[in-house]
Amino acid sequence: MLRTRLLGTGFSLGEHLVKNEALSGLMDTSDQWIRERSGIEQRYYVKDGTTTTDLGLRAAHIALADAKVATEEIDYIVFATMTPDHFFPGCGAILQSRLGLDTVPALDIRQQCTGFIYGLQVCDALVRSGQSKTILLVGAEVHSGFMPWNWDSLLHGGPPPSEKERAWNTRFRDRTVLFGDAGGACVLRGAEGERGLIGFEVHSDGRDYQSLYVPSCGFAQRPYVTEGDLREGRHIPEMNGKQVFKMAVTRMPEVVRSLCAKNGYSVRDLDLLIAHQANLRINEAVQKALELPDEKVFHNIQRYGNTTAATIPIALDEARKSGRVKEGDLVCFVGLGAGFHWGAALMRA
Ligand code: ACO
Repeated sequence: MLRTRLLGTGFSLGEHLVKNEALSGLMDTSDQWIRERSGIEQRYYVKDGTTTTDLGLRAAHIALADAKVATEEIDYIVFATMTPDHFFPGCGAILQSRLGLDTVPALDIRQQCTGFIYGLQVCDALVRSGQSKTILLVGAEVHSGFMPWNWDSLLHGGPPPSEKERAWNTRFRDRTVLFGDAGGACVLRGAEGERGLIGFEVHSDGRDYQSLYVPSCGFAQRPYVTEGDLREGRHIPEMNGKQVFKMAVTRMPEVVRSLCAKNGYSVRDLDLLIAHQANLRINEAVQKALELPDEKVFHNIQRYGNTTAATIPIALDEARKSGRVKEGDLVCFVGLGAGFHWGAALMRA
């Protein structure tokens, strides 16, 4: 049986470690509020000039070395991000040229927090249909680009925020405290045997897309960004946090149960659940709904915040390298994010 097997993983982080306390210097928030509501203790932001592609490239080099695969063996790139370096083209082509991969195809995926799961599904289809042998799948984000302040400038002696700037930063605090910058990557290759990706279930529901979206910077308006947009903060994501929370705690357990059943497993057969890291409270609720013990669920949001398309490959890398994923383990990935898009993937490690 031809399956898509995981050969290697890696991740990279923004250069600046930013603890919760530091954010309270910028806006009305506190370490206690952030920890209690989200579980997050710190996150990383890039220094000025580091892009999503840079973070993806750093992660890719680590994943290739881990896989013991030469860069030239990659015959397809899939890049998932909601924070591309440019409006277009996507990061895939830029990464391809930075890797020196001549004319290797590079596909961009825009499924936000479910980007890595949709990416795995696409890679599996390419491998099992014989269209690709060895794929580099990357998920990376520079969320600090959305933040209303410039961390790099503050670190390098820029003036602290004025009262007016503090009030402006506070307006977006429910979203900005949650996110961080990072990249994750994995190398996948077709191989005969039981090990590898087993199955997928993905869904989308666009009816409530405005629960989490960027109102401007899109061609639904002309010009696609105006001075008024910048003045009103319409270039910063808008979020109905309660609605996102509700969707996540409902849809994620549902899709895990359904995917396991379709593939002849029960949730109890899982050795590890790696969920998208958006909020520790969300993942604890998912764990409870699925009745999974602590040792079968992986969390690392405390250290990185929500890094969207990068959360799952980072967690996978940490889980593999710390011995939480062993050869033969049944691993389930699950995520939900803006769109809404959600889904799950099953893998025999
Ligand atoms: N610091 C201090 N106070 C804050 C902050 C902050 N950073 N943010 C909001 N508050 C205040 C609010 O203003 C409100 O004050 P009020 O009671 O005086 O009006 C109070 O805290 C409670 O706010 P709520 O919005 O009711 O807080 P809630 O318990 O819903 O938690 C949160 C908010 C953490 C955003 C939660 O709803 C959540 O995590 N939702 C899911 C968000 C998410 O996961 N998004 C991304 C997923 S998709 C993707 O990754 C792209």
